[in-house]
This record gives sequence, C-alpha cells and structure tokens, in this order.
Amino acid sequence: MQYPTPAPTDFEIGALIDHHLHLEGPLLPILHAIQAAFGHVPSCAIPVIAKALNITKAEVHGVVSFYHDFRDAPAGRHVVKICRAEACQAMGANALAEGALAELDIEWHGTTANGAVTIEPVYCLGLCACGPAAMVDGKVVGRLNKARMSALLKEAGA
Ligand code: FES
Repeated sequence: MQYPTPAPTDFEIGALIDHHLHLEGPLLPILHAIQAAFGHVPSCAIPVIAKALNITKAEVHGVVSFYHDFRDAPAGRHVVKICRAEACQAMGANALAEGALAELDIEWHGTTANGAVTIEPVYCLGLCACGPAAMVDGKVVGRLNKARMSALLKEAGA
C-alpha cells in the first residue's frame, strides 16, 4: 500500500540537483540525495533531472529502475531485505521469501497495509555461510527459517 505524500516541488528537487551539478557523474548522487530527502525518487523528479543533466527521461528512468535501492514509492517504517543470491538460495531463501511475502500478502518492494514493513530483495549481504540471510533496518540476520522470519516480521509490526 502506498501512502499519499506531498509531491516535492520542482524548486525543492532543483535545489538538490544544483548541489551535485559540479560532480563528474552527478546522476547517481542526485538520485541518492532525492531519495534521502523524500524517502523515494518520485516520478515528478525524473523530467527535472533529465532537463538539468541534458539527458532523456528514459535514461534517468533506466538508471532508477536498474538499481534496486531506488524506490518509486516511500518505504514502510521497517525495511526487510531478503537475500536472493546463490548461497542463500541453496539454503532455501526462495521458499523463505515466498513464505514471508505470502504471510504479509504483498509483492517484492511492497509495503504492508499498516505501513509497518516493506520487503525488498538484496543480492548478497556478505553473510553467505549463514544463509538464508536478511537485513532488517540495516542489521543483518542469518540462519533464518520460516519461524524466525515470521517472528521478525511480527516484531516489526507487520
Ligand atoms: S548469498 Fe546471501 S548473504 Fe551472500
């Protein structure tokens, strides 16, 4: 579920862009700054960025959608990133993730109806020997199973 948030103005977005224009490759720093400020990269920012950098809107959109860390909607109060890379997959990460998504009745990148938890995929957390692994609000958790994942989600208010 997405909560209505006031769209940032072109002026607010422009101010963040101006701050990074002197950089050699300003697009990623601009996108990170916008996400840090607004919790996501709103679609209204795409044309403003494209114009400022003299590139197409499709190019900006391509970069936003390529990097899994950029969101097109604000996240919930807690973000759970479940590892989908090989070592974790071998330890049952796919079933674990499918179970969590089914339990919360959301898709990848989705947020629970009460706004508590967003589930996102991640591709290796460096905890491969302790898979399946996840990251809850920046803290890595290993050796997950269905029961532990369920407890984590409940603890996060899902
Ligand atoms: S493969 Fe999951 S932490 Fe490395």
